Amino acid sequence: MNTLNDSNGLFITFEGVEGAGKTTNIEYIAEKIKASGHEILLTREPGGTELSEAIRELLISKEYPEMHITTELLLMFAARSEHLNKKIIPAINEGKWVLCDRFTDATFAYQGGGRGIPETTISTLETLVQGTLKPDYTFLFDLNAEVGLARAKNRGETDRFEQQHIDFFNRVRAKYLVMAETEKHRYRIVNAEHDLSTVQIQISQLLTEIL
Ligand code: TMP
Repeated sequence: MNTLNDSNGLFITFEGVEGAGKTTNIEYIAEKIKASGHEILLTREPGGTELSEAIRELLISKEYPEMHITTELLLMFAARSEHLNKKIIPAINEGKWVLCDRFTDATFAYQGGGRGIPETTISTLETLVQGTLKPDYTFLFDLNAEVGLARAKNRGETDRFEQQHIDFFNRVRAKYLVMAETEKHRYRIVNAEHDLSTVQIQISQLLTEIL
């Protein structure tokens, strides 16, 4: 049962620093959940609707290297408001399992831990946009930030975030680990430094508990 209503829908989010293999692993998880008979919605943040994807372009584009951190924060929540109201909430209400690549914990990690915006400021916007809605489960793909960033850079062209200094990503990772420790009931940590097959064994074990 989810935090939103008494439908059979569920809201699962996926977090981690760049290069943690989120995309590949989410696809693996989506297949497993579908195979167990649940209807899913696979989506991402920032993005997930036409308007939110347009906001994503503004956020990750290197055309705006000097974007003010408050502007960045508000754009993240603007994209989220649209995504949540138009796509995520209706899908949960229809009983779907919503699998979302990043959500508000990314804001606490990147804009909070990374940029230094106070947690209370982010919490205020969280309440405004989400009310009490939170993910039912959050998978954290955890790995050394330097290893992750090197993997991400190997993939090709970098975006505005991937150009940040390694210290930024170390703070992001540290914030994720604090949240995982504070909200143990919701978080499932996957050690993403291992090879893919070992990571998938870990994922299968964690999914058995949920499914
Ligand atoms: P992605 O490349 O992992 O899809 O995410 C794009 C970037 O957006 C990534 O560097 C993390 C960043 N981000 C934030 O800074 N705050 C947020 O709230 C979200 C959802 C993403």
